[in-house]
Amino acid sequence: MLDWSDTETAAASVASAPALVTAPRPATRLKLEPVDPTGLGTIDRTGGRVSVDEKRMINCRADVNQLLPLKYKWAWEKYLAACNNHWMPTEVSMQADIALWKSRDGLTEDERRAIKRNLGFFAASESLVANNIVLAIYRRLTNPECRQYLLRQAFEEAVHTHTFQYIVESLGLDEGELFNMYREVPSITDKAAWALRHTQHLDDPSFQTGMPEGGQAFLRDLVAFYVVFEGMWFYTGFAQILSLGRRNKMVGIAEQYQYILRDESIHLNFGIDVINQIKIENPHFWTPAFQEEVRGMIREAAELETAYGRDTMPRGFLGLNAGLCEQYMHFIANRRCAQIGLAAVFAETENPFPWMSEAMDLKKEKNFFETRVIEYQNGGALGWE
Ligand SMILES: [Fe+2]
Ligand SMILES: [Fe+2]
Repeated sequence: MLDWSDTETAAASVASAPALVTAPRPATRLKLEPVDPTGLGTIDRTGGRVSVDEKRMINCRADVNQLLPLKYKWAWEKYLAACNNHWMPTEVSMQADIALWKSRDGLTEDERRAIKRNLGFFAASESLVANNIVLAIYRRLTNPECRQYLLRQAFEEAVHTHTFQYIVESLGLDEGELFNMYREVPSITDKAAWALRHTQHLDDPSFQTGMPEGGQAFLRDLVAFYVVFEGMWFYTGFAQILSLGRRNKMVGIAEQYQYILRDESIHLNFGIDVINQIKIENPHFWTPAFQEEVRGMIREAAELETAYGRDTMPRGFLGLNAGLCEQYMHFIANRRCAQIGLAAVFAETENPFPWMSEAMDLKKEKNFFETRVIEYQNGGALGWE
């Protein structure tokens, strides 16, 4: 990061910079310059060129409008991997799903309830996640390669929302019922309201990430959306639908969920890398008290998911039930804790759905759901979590 208040640092930066760089402005003047984390400020006509060392995740004073030179290669690699995974929901045939949904005894009432609530949860959640990226995170993350990935992720969230529009249209579902579930079904509303609490702080025009309070609020938002929403709650949702798909039910939706899961797995891993990088650059944010608070958030989120599991599967079906989903949530919550360097929040437990990791690997599971869209994957092997 450029430190214009330090004359020696500024001089050294200019000495090693390319010949076209003009001298920095006097420190006294620059000290008064407001930090522009957005890239929307006045163009600095006399500033030095960006060097890699000046780039930071948050509170960066280096120009956020210059992608190169790259500092965080992991962000760029995720952007490339995401582009290689392009898919559209309309490329998946819904014929078998339509026939099954319209048949009188193809699905039990319990299965129909779980499917509808699952779709209702995802339909609005994709928009909540997209809003958080575009209206909160993008503004505060002062790194252009991370922003490049966020732009791609925002598009993927739009594709995911499109998926639910396509499913509603294909099956002839009541769109008002589905898209209002996040307001009308308490177990879904509780989750959405919990996550929204954390993004609302970032909407305050006076919000700053410079001080620990602001930095911690930003980390809370990243935990709420990347670790909890996309990394925990989505996973039980995937397990429900993929479990039906494995038994040859709603195979079109199951295939679409496989693609969403592949995207979300990268979203989650990007969020974890962002959190860990912010921790490295701002160790004073990651206090023992704050770590406890984040562990509490993850525990609370798992409890909300358990309530949702009971609500969507009061009796259980096809080898799935609320108890197994709770166990799966505990397994996932502990895993997420480890990924951001926290102690586990639940007693160690086995993964009750080991087939989920196979469902994530589309190349290995090429015959699981026959599809031509898989051929779009033209990059190198993706590193799943
Ligand atoms: Fe999504
Ligand atoms: Fe996502």
